[in-house]
Amino acid sequence: MRLDKFICKSTELTKAEAIQCIHAGEVIVNGETVTVESTQIHENNTITLNDKILKSRPFRYIVMHKPAGIVCSNIDGDYPSLFSLLENDSSIERTSELHIAGRLDVDTTGLVLITDDGRWTYNITRPDKQCTKTYRVGLSYSIAEDAVEALVERFKHGLQLQGENQLTLPALLEVLPAKTSNIKKGENQEVLLTITEGKYHQVKRMFAAVGNRVRTLHRERIGDIQLDVELGQWRYLTASEVSAFDK
Ligand code: URA
Repeated sequence: MRLDKFICKSTELTKAEAIQCIHAGEVIVNGETVTVESTQIHENNTITLNDKILKSRPFRYIVMHKPAGIVCSNIDGDYPSLFSLLENDSSIERTSELHIAGRLDVDTTGLVLITDDGRWTYNITRPDKQCTKTYRVGLSYSIAEDAVEALVERFKHGLQLQGENQLTLPALLEVLPAKTSNIKKGENQEVLLTITEGKYHQVKRMFAAVGNRVRTLHRERIGDIQLDVELGQWRYLTASEVSAFDK
């Protein structure tokens, strides 16, 4: 981690104030004065600021149930930001240090993980880490029973998305029994899709690639974490939930 970031994490100082202290020679790393803010340090280094040993604050790991109409961004734009839901809660501070480990589109609902631990996020978002994300998808067009097997195979084999050089990684498609009553009312055919990547609009583009259209999209699971909080609510992950991603 960069020295200036470590100082912000372990004190109440802003980034500009941390850099000022570093330039002023007030910061010592393992007995040596360090005046370059980009110096990489490790959590087990001894770092002092004006002779006071700094201890990094623990990282935070949060699961939230994202409503539709909320944007996965740190700033409000056309829609309120996901972080505005956290900021309404006085029990959580320094929300500007948090980021989202795998964003959802503004119209998508469901499970979002939020943290200030960038290394942990890597384990969730990098495709080679094979972290599964399961979506419940409502489709515009129902899938005929005799077409299910071939469709499942196509998702498993990988799909060619527009504008991509490589096929999608193997995905697991489970077609849920169509509820005749719903289809008559013009409602969705539902499927579950489990993927290990997070390309831009990936699920919507995967169904577009097979001639269907996503009408509703809800993420219900990441790895072993199943969404268990009410819409718009959040909770901290347990230590074992956090460490399950440290592989
Ligand atoms: N895939 C999408 O198309 N949208 C999301 O929000 C998440 C996955």
